[in-house]
Amino acid sequence: PVDLKGRHFLKELDFTPEEFRHLVEFAAELKSAKKAGTEQQRLRGRNIALVFEKTSTRTRSAFEVAAADQGASTTYLDPSGSQIGHKESIKDTARVLGRMFDGIQYRGHGQAVVEELAAYAGVPVWNGLTDEWHPTQMLADVLTMTEHNPKPLAEISYAYLGDARYNMGNSLLVTGALLGMDVRIAAPRAMWPHTDVVGQARELAARTGARITLTEDVEEGVRGADHVHTDVWVSMGEPKEVWDERITLLKPYAVTAEVMRATGNPQATFLHCLPAFHDLGTAVGREIHARHGLDHLEVSDEVFESERSVVFDQAENRMHTIKAVLVSTLA
Ligand code: CP
Ligand code: NVA
Repeated sequence: PVDLKGRHFLKELDFTPEEFRHLVEFAAELKSAKKAGTEQQRLRGRNIALVFEKTSTRTRSAFEVAAADQGASTTYLDPSGSQIGHKESIKDTARVLGRMFDGIQYRGHGQAVVEELAAYAGVPVWNGLTDEWHPTQMLADVLTMTEHNPKPLAEISYAYLGDARYNMGNSLLVTGALLGMDVRIAAPRAMWPHTDVVGQARELAARTGARITLTEDVEEGVRGADHVHTDVWVSMGEPKEVWDERITLLKPYAVTAEVMRATGNPQATFLHCLPAFHDLGTAVGREIHARHGLDHLEVSDEVFESERSVVFDQAENRMHTIKAVLVSTLA
């Protein structure tokens, strides 16, 4: 039996395959219970701090709704409205929040910060995204893939296209390795995950039977894949100046209808953690269009809006999976 009470949720590498799978399965149960109107509140009277040093739509909303569904209350702290980072150290912040709250969500820059928060808080700390990892997103991504795939987890294959040196590339590589899946990273060699991360993934794969492929060749990356993932080409916290180089290097890795066809699998689904640049519907999208003449970046509007796109299931699943983390670590 898996018992996660009192545990932090900082990165995938801290969990056994059994623990990680348990969280995904528990999230599926919570999802069914909510839809059936039979959800039990297990966090009544609990107080949760939500610390965000970067912006968020899904993660913040998922934590707030999950907590409310379970009877807990939340306090949102953003970098401008709190002392965190400028007037007060992370170590002191951790000890203050740990005296008032039962658990703390942290979204920020370096993984070292969330690890330090966890070391001093005395209550569970959940990583809502750092530069290095996006572990709550992985629970949602695995739940979404399994919902759209009849195969057992270990037989599922997926590809990630794009800059793989950052949270989504790292997390998708390590999560697939942990769960014994077939993971492919298709990116320019300079954008493959750091050798440390690849080493950790290979070590896990040796134990779990996962298959790991790193390639510069899109066709090789997606051939036979059940799922195709991508992410924004420039992440939060990166300077605007990197756009030009990213676009030049990553243009061949955009997920288009041709890429989806190259899977050879008409049932293959498209996933994206969101937000996505698939049309000119945002100010940033229009700016990119004006400067580069492109009407999409990492994914074409055709793929994003197609029947094979499961991005909004994936967004919804952020809430059910985060709820599973809250209940498992607090109740
Ligand atoms: N996918 C994700 O983490 O979205 P937000 O940045 O909106 O939270
Ligand atoms: N890689 C993206 C993920 C957003 C959810 C970022 O860090 O901005």
